[in-house]
Amino acid sequence: MTQSLTLRRPDDWHLHLRDGAMLRAVLPETARHFARAIIMPNLVPPVVTGEQAAGYRDRILAALPEGMTFEPLMTLYLTEETDPDDVSAAAESGLVKAVKLYPAGATTNSASGVRDFDKVRGVLDRMAEIGLPLCVHGEVTDAEIDIFDREAVFIDRVLDPIRQATPGLRVVMEHITTENGVDYVKSAEKDLGATITAHHLVINRNHILVGGIRPHYYCLPVAKRESHRLALVAAATGGDARFFLGTDSAPHTDANKESACGCAGCFTATNCMSVLAEVFDREGALDRLEGFASLHGPAFYKLPANDATITLTKGEPVTYPDRIDSGEGPVTVFDPGFPLHWRVD
Ligand code: DOR
Ligand code: ZN
Repeated sequence: MTQSLTLRRPDDWHLHLRDGAMLRAVLPETARHFARAIIMPNLVPPVVTGEQAAGYRDRILAALPEGMTFEPLMTLYLTEETDPDDVSAAAESGLVKAVKLYPAGATTNSASGVRDFDKVRGVLDRMAEIGLPLCVHGEVTDAEIDIFDREAVFIDRVLDPIRQATPGLRVVMEHITTENGVDYVKSAEKDLGATITAHHLVINRNHILVGGIRPHYYCLPVAKRESHRLALVAAATGGDARFFLGTDSAPHTDANKESACGCAGCFTATNCMSVLAEVFDREGALDRLEGFASLHGPAFYKLPANDATITLTKGEPVTYPDRIDSGEGPVTVFDPGFPLHWRVD
């Protein structure tokens, strides 16, 4: 018997599209299944002002193939020089849906991020006032903190103090990778949500390191031990509206991944929905996939859910290309390591 599942069209609440040839190559992979996405601003140079976000939005729409629809939800990259007035103007015009906080040096193109959190106090207060969400890359960058502890330490040392000091600030902890992240989100009474990627529901740190180093599984925050993956699966499939999909699909060319100092990022846009359906199916939670991928995110961002739908059908394993051509070189598509039975029609 064919099994099929129709969902409101999903959105991606954390996506890297890059620019230029790479943007043109990866955008259709997302737009094929997703109606909207929160677009990460970590270009070189970063998208800091409303004017830069408007320019980037135009380039994204210009790169969209004919016949496809997609709405980029723009973000601003928070720096110590960010002007609160520019942020509120960009939010009030409807252009910008969130501000992104990268601790300086935490990940790809984060050098202009925040070092001294006192310097962004004015912006955070303004965001709390106008209800604009702060998307947070939740890792400390101190050299002495072990990379596997950086999320947990960030919650205690940075995130909780920011939230205490800024009542009403709405925060999305992005791409959580730990049980600590899950617990922290659950402990908040309001104004806190978290995105979870498809790949962190599938891989743990052994996938990266056992039997040889697998650069295509390296991303930031890095995947943690299995108990943390299980906590993420429970959170994603548990129906709690504070958890929603943000793929963090982050394309890098194979040359840049398969290198002595490989870039962080998993490219999942192509097969993300099939991977998620497989994970939710295994958990007996297919009825909760729509909440995670299509309903909880819009609710947090106070946007309507999409009217359009997609249908997933279960059958013989589906195949996706191993890599896509980006114009800058091949980009490997995330390999979940198990067959995918759910096809997006
Ligand atoms: O793995 C990652 N890749 N994590 C990030 O935070 C940034 C992203 C990228 O831009 O490549
Ligand atoms: Zn990201």
